[in-house]
Amino acid sequence: MLFKLDTVGDQFLGAELKILTAFQKTATTAAKPTKGAKAAKAESSVSIDHWSDKGLKEEFANLKSAAKFKGAKDETLSFTGATGETVWVVGLGDKTKYEAEDLRKSVAKIYKAAKAGKFSTVAFDVPGFNTVKDEALTTSLIAEAIYLSDYSFDKYKSKKPEATEVTVVFAHVEKKNSAKIEKALASTQNICESINVIKDYVNEAPNVLHSEEYARRVEADVKKNLKGVKIKVLNKAQIQKEKMGMFLSVNAGSAYEPRLVHLTYEPPKSNSKTKHIALVGKGITFDTGGYCVKPGASMAGMKNDMGGSATVYGAFRAAVLEKAPVKITCILAMTDNAINELATTPDAIVTARNGKTCEILNTDAEGRLILGDALDYACDQGPDYIIDAATLTGAALVALGNQVCAILGNDQKWINEILGSAKAQDEYMWQLPIINEWRQDIKSKIADIKNIGTPMRAGTAIGAAFLEEFIKNDIKWAHLDVAGVVDSQSHLPYCSGHGASGLIVRTLTHLLVNAK
Ligand code: BES
Ligand code: MN
Ligand code: ZN
Repeated sequence: MLFKLDTVGDQFLGAELKILTAFQKTATTAAKPTKGAKAAKAESSVSIDHWSDKGLKEEFANLKSAAKFKGAKDETLSFTGATGETVWVVGLGDKTKYEAEDLRKSVAKIYKAAKAGKFSTVAFDVPGFNTVKDEALTTSLIAEAIYLSDYSFDKYKSKKPEATEVTVVFAHVEKKNSAKIEKALASTQNICESINVIKDYVNEAPNVLHSEEYARRVEADVKKNLKGVKIKVLNKAQIQKEKMGMFLSVNAGSAYEPRLVHLTYEPPKSNSKTKHIALVGKGITFDTGGYCVKPGASMAGMKNDMGGSATVYGAFRAAVLEKAPVKITCILAMTDNAINELATTPDAIVTARNGKTCEILNTDAEGRLILGDALDYACDQGPDYIIDAATLTGAALVALGNQVCAILGNDQKWINEILGSAKAQDEYMWQLPIINEWRQDIKSKIADIKNIGTPMRAGTAIGAAFLEEFIKNDIKWAHLDVAGVVDSQSHLPYCSGHGASGLIVRTLTHLLVNAK
C-alpha cells in the first residue's frame, strides 16, 4: 500500500474510487400545538457543502437515490461518476458527534470494502473527514485505520489471498499543512508497523514461537530496525545465576530454555534528569497450566499468553522509532508453562530473586511467578517508573469483558497518566483497586507468600497484589492485565475479528513519546 498527498486535487480526479462524506443535519421545527401531536418534529437533511469538487456535487444532486440519502452514520451511497470512476458517499451522521474513534472504524470498513472491490487507487476527500479540526490528525487517523486493517496472518495458508497493491490518496489537503501531515504519517507508520510486527508474534503458532525462537526474533528485529538499542538475552544459565527461582520453576517442565530479553534505549538528549521508564512483559509462549492442567477448552488459545510481552515490545519499538524523550528499559520474560517429569508440582516452595519464598499452590498461576522475578530485575535497573503487561488472569475477563484492559498499581498519579494516554488513544482501560485484605490473602502459612488467594475472589487484583511484592525502592508501578484485550476484538473493524489485536501498544507509545 502506498500513501500519496494531493494538495491540488489532480490525483483525486484520476482515482478509480473516490470517498466523500456527508453529514446529517437535524433541524427541529416546532409543530402546531394541536391536541395529541408531538411538541416538535425533527427534520433531517443531508449536507455535502464541504465538497470542493463542483462537478461531483452536481452529479450527486441529479441522482434519484440521493433524495432518500440522509447522511446518517454508516449509511452509504455509491454511484458512477462522469469519468467512469466509482464514488462512495459515506454518511458520518451528526458532525459534532463524530470523533476520532468513529473515524478509525468508518475508514477500516471503507478500506476493507475497497480492497474487496479490487480498486487500485482510492482517494479520500480529507476535508470531509476532518471533524476533529486538524488535517494532520485526520490524515494520520485514516492512515492508522488502513495500516491496521491491512494486516492479515496468512503464512500458513497454502493458497494466499490475492494481494492488490492499493494506492491511497489523501486529497484536498491544504498545501501549508503538507509538512505536518508528512510527519504525522511517518509517526503513524512507525506505530502501526510496530503493532503489526507484534501481532505476528502473538499469532505465531507455539510450536514455532517457543521461548528460544521468540527471543531470536526480537533480537533480529532490534538489530535490523532499532539502531542504538542495547540488547542482552539471558539464557538459562544466566537466569540461574540471577537466582530467579520462580521464573525457573515455571520453565522446569519445558523442552526449551527460558529467555530474559533486556533492551535499553537512551534518548538523543539524555542527562541525569531524564526520566527512566521500565516496561516488563509476560512472555508465556504457551500455557498448559502445568500440573494444574487446563481443561481443553480453556487451553486452546493459550499461545496468546505472551501477549503482554508483545505489547510492551511493540510500544518500546514504536517509542524508539519515534525517538521518545525518556530512557526505556524493556524486559521480556519468556518460557512456556509445560509439563514433563521435571515440571514443578503444586505445593513446591521456591525462592524468588528478591529472596522471598513462595509456595506454589497452583501451577497455572505461572505468569506472576515469571513476572515477579522479572520485576525485581527491572527494579535493579533503577527506573523511576515501571509498567508491566500480562495476560495474567481469566478474572480480568469476568470483571471487564474482553474489551477493557485492567490497570492496577501503587501510585495514583502514575495510573492516571496511563489512563490519560489510553483515553487519548481511545483504548478502553479501567482501574481496579488493590486493598490490604487482598495483600493479606497471598500470605502463606509456611512460606512468605503463596501464588494464589481465595479462589473466585478478586482474581485480577490478587495477581497484582502478588506482583507488588516484587516492587522495591518505592518505584512507581502499574500493572496492566491484558488478558481480555489481547485478541478477538470483533467490535473493532480495524482489528481483525480473530487473532492478535495489537491493542494497548498505542496507549503505551503515546505515554512514552509524550513523557516529560
Ligand atoms: N494465562 C492465564 C490467564 C488467562 C485466562 C488469559 C484466560 C487469557 C484468557 C493465567 O496464567 C492463568 O491461568 N491464570 C489463572 C490464575 C488462577 C489459577 C489463580 C486463572 O485466571 O484461572
Ligand atoms: Mn496459567
Ligand atoms: Zn498464563
